[in-house]
Amino acid sequence: MNNRIPIILDADPGHDDAIAWVVANASDRLEILACTAVNGNCNAYKAAYNAQRVMALIGLDVPVARGRNCPLYRPSLSAPANIHGESGLDGPALPEPERELEKISAAELMARTLRNSREKVTIVATGPLTNVGELLLGYPELKEKIARISIMGGGIKYGNWTPAAEFNILIDPEAADIVFNSGIHVIMSGLDVTEQALVTPEDVEEIKQIGNPVSDIVWQWLEFFYRFHLSIGYKGAPMHDLCAVMALIHPEVFEMKDMHVEIETEGMYTDGKTIGDIYGITGKPANATCIMGVDRKKFIDLMIDYIRYYSEVH
Ligand code: RIB
Ligand code: CA
Repeated sequence: MNNRIPIILDADPGHDDAIAWVVANASDRLEILACTAVNGNCNAYKAAYNAQRVMALIGLDVPVARGRNCPLYRPSLSAPANIHGESGLDGPALPEPERELEKISAAELMARTLRNSREKVTIVATGPLTNVGELLLGYPELKEKIARISIMGGGIKYGNWTPAAEFNILIDPEAADIVFNSGIHVIMSGLDVTEQALVTPEDVEEIKQIGNPVSDIVWQWLEFFYRFHLSIGYKGAPMHDLCAVMALIHPEVFEMKDMHVEIETEGMYTDGKTIGDIYGITGKPANATCIMGVDRKKFIDLMIDYIRYYSEVH
């Protein structure tokens, strides 16, 4: 038995989702069982097409399925095209899909994957939590097959879509509430850490030198992604989603704190906020490990090492 962590990747690719998948696929500590696409950065149809193309690029041949095209209970918000582009993954040309979409929904594919796995499975969700919420609502008996849920989402100290809420949570707060109150432990990579995990133009120059078919796409994704972020004052591109993968394979580069987290689903000004009980005031047991800091240099060096992996396999 290999000691790899079996995972399901759920995302709304998205440049940072795509880079997270590049690293996850290169790690010998993870075994990717399935991929699912969720409405978020772009609609579910575009997210699914982007997921298939990223999988073709990195040589990931596992079942892939599309989720519903709207949140569980509310109308969908959509990210403006200036962040990820009209396609949701603008920039370099990508290969066409090699793996067809399954004829079942994302939640059904997750359920089938959990049912068929001998071991408990970790879900790595880097978009809105709609698919994971639908899975937990529809298949409560499969909760025991989920080891943990590692997400990019939320922010204990602040939001990025409203002052209170981060995009992934705000798109579907009810789904996030289901996840955080499911009894399954959550590793939460919120803005507190992801906005420290910045890729700078100097890092991109190092990736440009690698020269394999994947690194040649990644640096172009990064240039596209950080152009928007530099324009609004960031010093680089925040590798939001990669944190949810790195938390599983290199926890040593992070500062983490267990705490109870609630999701606001009705606040006039705080809708979608992840409310972290940092000081244990409520006395409620921790339902999440919140990542609050990162050694940026170590994080980026590891990311670049994983991108170099594709020089060996091409
Ligand atoms: O707020 C950042 C999150 O929103 C990331 O997952 C990014 O891909 C977008 O989905
Ligand atoms: Ca995402």
